[in-house]
Amino acid sequence: MIIDPSQPSPIDPIAQDMRRLEDTLKSVVTPHLQLPGKDLRILNLACGRCDEAETLIKVGGELAGAPSQVEMVAADIRIREIRQARERFGHLPAKFLIEDATKIDSHGELGDDFGLVFLRHQNFWHGQEIWKKIFDQGTAKLDKNGLLVITSYFDKEHRLALKALEELGIEVVESRRTKGSRALADAPGKSVDRWVAVLRRKK
Ligand SMILES: C[S@@+](CC[C@H](N)C(=O)[O-])C[C@H]1O[C@@H](n2cnc3c(N)ncnc32)[C@H](O)[C@@H]1O
Repeated sequence: MIIDPSQPSPIDPIAQDMRRLEDTLKSVVTPHLQLPGKDLRILNLACGRCDEAETLIKVGGELAGAPSQVEMVAADIRIREIRQARERFGHLPAKFLIEDATKIDSHGELGDDFGLVFLRHQNFWHGQEIWKKIFDQGTAKLDKNGLLVITSYFDKEHRLALKALEELGIEVVESRRTKGSRALADAPGKSVDRWVAVLRRKK
């Protein structure tokens, strides 16, 4: 389904997706997150146009104690989407980078102290080797108590992604099928943020 964000919709499916994502983050991720005692840094990889930017900053700000204590770096390889994100979310404490996430380790100045690395609708089904690199490079940016959070559109892709992550030495802390996720009309078996998983590096 193609959603044009410039067209008003009586049901505004994206706003509803964001409400569900907020609930999911609060119920599935928050209980596992140990705050580092400083600002919460969020790395959002393969973010596309980053519809979830405000939701992540809101939930992160509540966790960290204040919106001023959260910072997000979001990256995608697609120029147009990142430009859209910059236009929509310039008011947030966030940077939107045009970057190949398979090479995010070459970005030394980003640091490796992210409390949360987020991959919404990871795309493991389309290019498994690329996504293994993204998983590997993303988790290398976590601080020692940091969490990787992925969401998936469909069951088989989620299972395969978790298997690949475990083979990379990443432990699944929780994996949950979200309730009431919005079905994609033209893609049977797929829905928005259908699955969420919380993972961490093995100690
Ligand atoms: C299924 S889309 C998900 C986009 C967004 N996270 C969402 O939930 O709407 C997968 C995204 O991965 C991005 N992507 C694929 N390979 C990438 C790479 N090597 N580096 C950065 N982003 C990449 C694509 O451009 C696309 O935006």
